[in-house]
Amino acid sequence: MCGIVGYIGSKAAREIVIKGLKLLEYRGYDSAGMALVNGETRIFKCKGRVEDLEKMVSNSDFNGTLGMGHTRWATHGEPNELNAHPQVSHKGNFIVVHNGIIENYALIKKHLQGKGIQFSSQTDTEVLANLIEHLYVEGDLTAEEAITLALNRVEGAYGLVIICTKETDRLFAARKGSPLVIGVGDGENFIASDATPIVEYTQRVIYLKDDDLAIIKKDELVLKTVRPKNIEPEVKEVDLKIGEIDKEGYAHFMLKEIFEQPRAIHDTFRGRVLPDHSGIMLGGLHSELENISRAEKVIIVACGTSYHAGLLGEYIFEEYTRIPVEVEYASEFRYRDPIIKNGDIVIAISQSGETADTLAAIRIAREKGAKVIGICNVVGSSIPRETDAGVYTHAGPEIGVASTKAFTTQVTVLAMMAFEIGFLRGTITGDRYRELIDELVSVPSKIEKALQVNEQALELARIYQNKRNALYLGRGYLFPVALEGALKLKEISYIHAEGYPAAEMKHGPIALIDEDMPVVVVATSDNTYDKIVSNIQEIKARKGSVIAIVTEGDEFIRKMADYVLEVPETLPPFSGILAVIPLQLLSYHIAVLRGCNVDQPRNLAKSVTVE
Ligand code: G6P
Repeated sequence: MCGIVGYIGSKAAREIVIKGLKLLEYRGYDSAGMALVNGETRIFKCKGRVEDLEKMVSNSDFNGTLGMGHTRWATHGEPNELNAHPQVSHKGNFIVVHNGIIENYALIKKHLQGKGIQFSSQTDTEVLANLIEHLYVEGDLTAEEAITLALNRVEGAYGLVIICTKETDRLFAARKGSPLVIGVGDGENFIASDATPIVEYTQRVIYLKDDDLAIIKKDELVLKTVRPKNIEPEVKEVDLKIGEIDKEGYAHFMLKEIFEQPRAIHDTFRGRVLPDHSGIMLGGLHSELENISRAEKVIIVACGTSYHAGLLGEYIFEEYTRIPVEVEYASEFRYRDPIIKNGDIVIAISQSGETADTLAAIRIAREKGAKVIGICNVVGSSIPRETDAGVYTHAGPEIGVASTKAFTTQVTVLAMMAFEIGFLRGTITGDRYRELIDELVSVPSKIEKALQVNEQALELARIYQNKRNALYLGRGYLFPVALEGALKLKEISYIHAEGYPAAEMKHGPIALIDEDMPVVVVATSDNTYDKIVSNIQEIKARKGSVIAIVTEGDEFIRKMADYVLEVPETLPPFSGILAVIPLQLLSYHIAVLRGCNVDQPRNLAKSVTVE
């Protein structure tokens, strides 16, 4: 994880770097640091947030027109000032910020220690800084040569920005596995882990590819590879506006993103549903549509919330296309020699497009002959670039670490794919296809309605905020929603929560139920309605406290449950998108009342670019 920002030009680098790091804090926030160059080079580092770093640098009047900064999510070494980045080589010639893991660092460290080189941190990054310097000094190399040689000796993943204190007219940047984007300005250039810190200054960007080495000067940009072959930079226009990354009056990004869902889902299907609702056209899938519709098996791989969207996708896909679907955590898939035949389709789902396990799963699937389809939010991220075809969710930047609009837009894409392929395969009729599309188009306005439970969710949060555990139950399409509801609660409020298929309750979790156990039952489904009603009765018989998510006007469950939150009626494939809204709001309010850092919960990061 970790966020990186670098600047070279004629403006004051300090402010640009701090502002950029704040936008990247979703990637990690346990310590922060920066380097500024103005004749001499100064390093500022501290444990804590970017705002602590900001306070620290504001006590100094030092600034520069070249600078770089880092916000960290610790992998090697606890979060403290010494382990914060930048890391400086022992003779001070190289200053490095790094996102990723140098896997063979221990071996290299031992080798360098054998040469008398001392280390002051526990980081793998300091090892790399010292390796570069060792090669630079011993081999009498240029900075570029030393960096290139060092990068050929390390294993693992990196997004790196490096300053050589003897060549301060340039920044060096290199990528392998961890994302880096160059912003191409006029007489100035930028580098960052994603485009958000850059778009205020320029829309022209270059996404670095694995093994790229960029030499970035204020008015010159040279792109090389650490392997022996130079490459032509490919400049792209980034479609991201600065206003899209503000909180826009909301207390937190998470709340803003929950309320953005009607717009986000509309953007997901906009231009893809034919104006007369007679069909869906997913342009990004065009080249693979025939292959997908002939597939004998679809495997969905993802992590975290995206995995829950995948589970919902399985239900939708199997119902409408009748193609068997398996869903797997990418981290499991990658290490178990999965069975894939030529012609199998693997769908990788990822908000960030950078999750290391999902990327690794894609590579394995492709090696084994699968066609890989990506469903991603971040345009130009690694996953869309490594897949055969794909669909962007167009949810807009998601900054809150707890994923909300990414989930509902991912499910929207999966539903659209299933309907389009089902129609092509003849597993749904034209009438059913149009009926589903009509309903899809009405989902944003139904979410607007579902969002009206916000005040009630706050009331319930007041009642339940001090609980230590919670159980979430659902059946069918609503089982993945129970899992997602439980994940939202635990990740931002630190209350232990478990999601379960409602019928499985009697095989274990029922033993946990007493008057102190809140049970959230997602009960909007129609085909298992009677069964879930029985489950609610079983909980009430054991004095559990039931919060039920129900369809508008459901007076029957209202009488049984302690509290209900209503959502509008919809067709089954969209029931999860609506039912998750009250669960997102409930978790949000509980976390706020408990004084938790909602947008940046402890120990988590938005984009997990390490294993
Ligand atoms: C992290 C985030 C989650 C996210 C998961 C997968 O754990 O905190 O919100 O669901 O990564 O991320 P992806 O970007 O691949 O969807």
